[in-house]
Amino acid sequence: MIIWCYLGGFSNLLLPPPALAGSLPVKDPAAVGLKEKQNPVTNLFTVEQLYSAIRNGDERGLRFDLSGLNKGLDGAPLDPTKIYGSIYVGPYPFAARHTDYEVKRFRVKTPITGGRGVLAVNRLFQEILNSEGWIDQGLVVVRLELYQEAAQEDRKLGIYDILVRFKKGTEGVVKLPTIMEGPLVNLLCSETPDRVVISFLTSDPGIGKVVLDQGQMFADPAPTTHHQITVTGLQPRTAYRYHVEFDNYRTKTYTFRTAPRPGKEPVTFAFLGDSREGIGGGAQNFMGLNYEALAGCLRSAYGGGAELVIFGGDLVNGYSTCQDDFRTQLYAWKQAAAGFWRERPIYPGIGNHESLLKAYEDGSKYGTELDSWPYDTDSVEAVFAAEFCNPGNGPIPADPRRPSYAENVYSFQYGPIKFISLNNCYWIAWKGATWEAAQEFGGSPEGYLMADQFNWLQEELKKAEKEATIKYIVLFAHEPIFPNDGGLRNCMWHRGNNQVRAYTYHGGKQPTPDGPGIIDLRNELVRLLGQNPKVAVFLAGHEHGYSKLLIHRKVPVGIPGKDDQNGNDKLGDPGESYSPLSDLKHPTWYITSGGAGAPYYSEQLAPWNQYWNKKHGQDFYNYSTQENFLIFTADDNKLSLKVFNTQGQLLDQIDNLMAVKKRKF
Ligand SMILES: [Fe+2]
Repeated sequence: MIIWCYLGGFSNLLLPPPALAGSLPVKDPAAVGLKEKQNPVTNLFTVEQLYSAIRNGDERGLRFDLSGLNKGLDGAPLDPTKIYGSIYVGPYPFAARHTDYEVKRFRVKTPITGGRGVLAVNRLFQEILNSEGWIDQGLVVVRLELYQEAAQEDRKLGIYDILVRFKKGTEGVVKLPTIMEGPLVNLLCSETPDRVVISFLTSDPGIGKVVLDQGQMFADPAPTTHHQITVTGLQPRTAYRYHVEFDNYRTKTYTFRTAPRPGKEPVTFAFLGDSREGIGGGAQNFMGLNYEALAGCLRSAYGGGAELVIFGGDLVNGYSTCQDDFRTQLYAWKQAAAGFWRERPIYPGIGNHESLLKAYEDGSKYGTELDSWPYDTDSVEAVFAAEFCNPGNGPIPADPRRPSYAENVYSFQYGPIKFISLNNCYWIAWKGATWEAAQEFGGSPEGYLMADQFNWLQEELKKAEKEATIKYIVLFAHEPIFPNDGGLRNCMWHRGNNQVRAYTYHGGKQPTPDGPGIIDLRNELVRLLGQNPKVAVFLAGHEHGYSKLLIHRKVPVGIPGKDDQNGNDKLGDPGESYSPLSDLKHPTWYITSGGAGAPYYSEQLAPWNQYWNKKHGQDFYNYSTQENFLIFTADDNKLSLKVFNTQGQLLDQIDNLMAVKKRKF
């Protein structure tokens, strides 16, 4: 087992006693009398429930009928006879023959009254509306806008989009098994440039097939609803046309391109983060995400030539105690990203909003909230791994009782770039949205990296430094190392509170500290990144704008051993200053882009941004509150960055991120 000793310099570290087999690594709050509670849900219905409410119909189309659905995912009673709203349908994908980038476009609107309505799909067969050339069957996207009448104020039940396939029968319109999600292209990377994994979800179990234009066919080994089909025998850096077949249905033909071999090939990629719901209603508050902003950023990234997207977490609202609600949010996120993802891969990471919780009343506003268990089925880490198809090469938890790192901490190479996904929202614990629950019950605070993940990163960086085909290392995590706005209260800063750390419960009264204080940990991480000449940038989200910051050996960041004059293990008390890391080897870029739709924050002062604000204009520090995304271009000579807002305006750029490595500051 690799332990913290590898880091060196932490004389006060406590090594945990051996884990108790079968026990929880957190103290169960219920065991000390806290009452479990439910957090509010975002979605009152699952996709499966809504799909089931669509039934065979008459000559007008399919029927929609919510009868029998007597409670929502929040557990509160529903009265289907009082539900009203609208149904919108449109052929999906719209104008499929004429576009690479798949989109939704609605065409027919019908009312819902008393929980019932009609999906008027037959109208789409009229000559004037038949954009897809349908003969006797088709597939539509259905948007359900639902409200429930109430004595005081009517209740908004939400907007939901689902897909349904159908055919015209002699007795009316008949619903058919449907590909409800996907196909999505996954795991395109230079370690395996000869393959791709195509994933999709179907309403009914069956054998799905991926067919290449050249004729090769790859099928599921057994009937399933969750399809992940590996296509092999491909040439690197080659475009392939493919379609998926399921239940006599054939999707439109898409194109993916295999990854280049490791090394010199030029690569363009996009980074974005934080697409959870914004403020403003409509498609900004859509099943847990800001559909409008996310779809806009991804369309622009596609148009800007991004071959892949790296996504820095806070995909959706999360903070859910209901797994069905959380999965429905992720379903909606994948649907909003579908246009990009049918053809080019997206690599998402976990943010603090990707949280699936057990929550308890403790008198605070949000209560005590811990990562939900049993961890192998109910933790956010387990659900994230089930919902996405990311590389599984992360660290093994040092304590086998903890959640898995599989598919939330991972690395892969793409051409000359080594991408490393870190999870600094792992095994989360909050009390009233602050870190103290970790101390009281066990768990890890926002922004923290436990020893197993840190040591894994250290090994990954060492290997990447030695690997000749890797020219640039790009790290990404949700929470910034150096926040510049709303993240000053958490991230790797917690307002300078070095008492913040992970705790593990081994029985007895209290959990025990599990790692160094977060500021000491941050400084070790920054030294580690500064040591490696290939580290181009540490990317993060969490703050809902854009910031660029260069850290070198003169930028003040705070060192507890030097700066904590009054010995309270906190920085920034009256009379205390912030030291730079004068032993830092190379300058490193820290860039935050969490501008894909979540509510905005504005800039706040921090020691590092104040340093730059006093000099050099916007060369080494810049900040914008705008919605934004990043486009990077790497070739053998340089790695460049362009930052765009959602209007397509260039906000900032760096011609060569590596140029600072040689510059004297
Ligand atoms: Fe966040």
